[in-house]
Amino acid sequence: MKKQPSLDALNPFMPGAGMRPPELVGRDADIENVDRMVARTKLGNLNQGIIFSGLRGMRKTVLLLALQDASSRQGIVTARLEAKGDIGTDWDMLFHEIALATARVKSLRLRRKLASALASIDSVQFSFLGVGAGVKLSDEERRRTNPFRLELMVESLSRELAKANTGLFLFVDELQEMDDEPLGALISLQHKMGQEGLPFYIIGAGLPNLPGVLSRSRSYAERLFEYRTIGQLPDSDTAEGFQKPARANGRPFADDALDELVKVSHGYPYFIQAYGKAAWNASDSNPTLLEAVRAGEPEARRELDEGLYASRWQRAKTSGREYLTAMAKINGDEPCDSSAVAAEMGKQPKEVSMIRESLIQLGLVYSPEHGKIAYTIPGMGEFILRAAPTMGQTYDGRR
Ligand SMILES: Nc1ncnc2c1ncn2[C@@H]1O[C@H](COP(=O)(O)OP(=O)(O)O)[C@@H](O)[C@H]1O
Ligand SMILES: [Mg+2]
Repeated sequence: MKKQPSLDALNPFMPGAGMRPPELVGRDADIENVDRMVARTKLGNLNQGIIFSGLRGMRKTVLLLALQDASSRQGIVTARLEAKGDIGTDWDMLFHEIALATARVKSLRLRRKLASALASIDSVQFSFLGVGAGVKLSDEERRRTNPFRLELMVESLSRELAKANTGLFLFVDELQEMDDEPLGALISLQHKMGQEGLPFYIIGAGLPNLPGVLSRSRSYAERLFEYRTIGQLPDSDTAEGFQKPARANGRPFADDALDELVKVSHGYPYFIQAYGKAAWNASDSNPTLLEAVRAGEPEARRELDEGLYASRWQRAKTSGREYLTAMAKINGDEPCDSSAVAAEMGKQPKEVSMIRESLIQLGLVYSPEHGKIAYTIPGMGEFILRAAPTMGQTYDGRR
């Protein structure tokens, strides 16, 4: 059987973190939500921020990008960053991205106003500290002034933007990672701006532990945000995620082929891209048949192993891998009791708490509730049980 290279080149599916999919299924309600925020902001009405949480590969980054697009197209000033968890970097990115956002404003008049608002901040800051302009602050002094500087910046920008019937939306990805100091400052800031009736909102995305991280940082965080869980897509959306791009590129899936794709992808957006790509490449007929989907499945699984699982597995040290493997043995992909993991490893919970902590730091596991532990990546447990025996230190994704 000969493949048609021109059709391979038309393959619309492409797995990869933050990669814009050919069809953004299942996002209508969220786009409407942000459209409503935009409309209310323009009318001078207040909003809550939005927090999206879910496992890896669920579409959060792509959704955040789409929402930023939608709001900036409607005249909202938007900034976006990915939190790193390093205090200096997180602060720097906040200042940098917010300043950059004002430079992207189309209206020259408004852009000038924002620029002069920003320019006045440093002098205010110096007088607040009781030092003359031109005095160089030590790193420590500068660090202490960060929350104040951010507040001045956001408040003066929001004031100008409110006068122009718009506002400032800050999109933060991997928000659960953010250092607690900038995170706390951001949450207080949205709270304060709300009290002053100024249009500044955080739209954040992160792992399922994110709502807990926010409430621990500031107890009132619960009231400031609308919390949305980003889970598996329903079958109808999943089917559309396969069929729409395939049809648009001239080669739809046959009904039974589509049923199989829906079944193997479990409504995980990352899986849609991997299985869609492999089935398309394996197909030599139009429409694409069930046999092609089946023929492509090993390739899709290999792509998922490499792109989603192996690279993350490799980040863990030997002890971390033991912990991850114990989790898989106890409960497959489901959350399990931390104490049971320790028992499985033949240790006391205290002895493995450092390992658990380092895996949380690496973003590989999270605690869905007190005393429980779970993988951040859907299918990780299955992967470990299936592939871990063949994966030494030198595992490179090939079999
Ligand atoms: N609505 C969607 N429909 C189909 N595929 C999607 C959708 N959103 C994202 N994807 C795909 O899923 C994968 C993971 O998306 P991403 O936004 O990086 O997830 P997360 O940030 O939750 O880890 C990417 O390959 C992306 O192309
Ligand atoms: Mg992401």
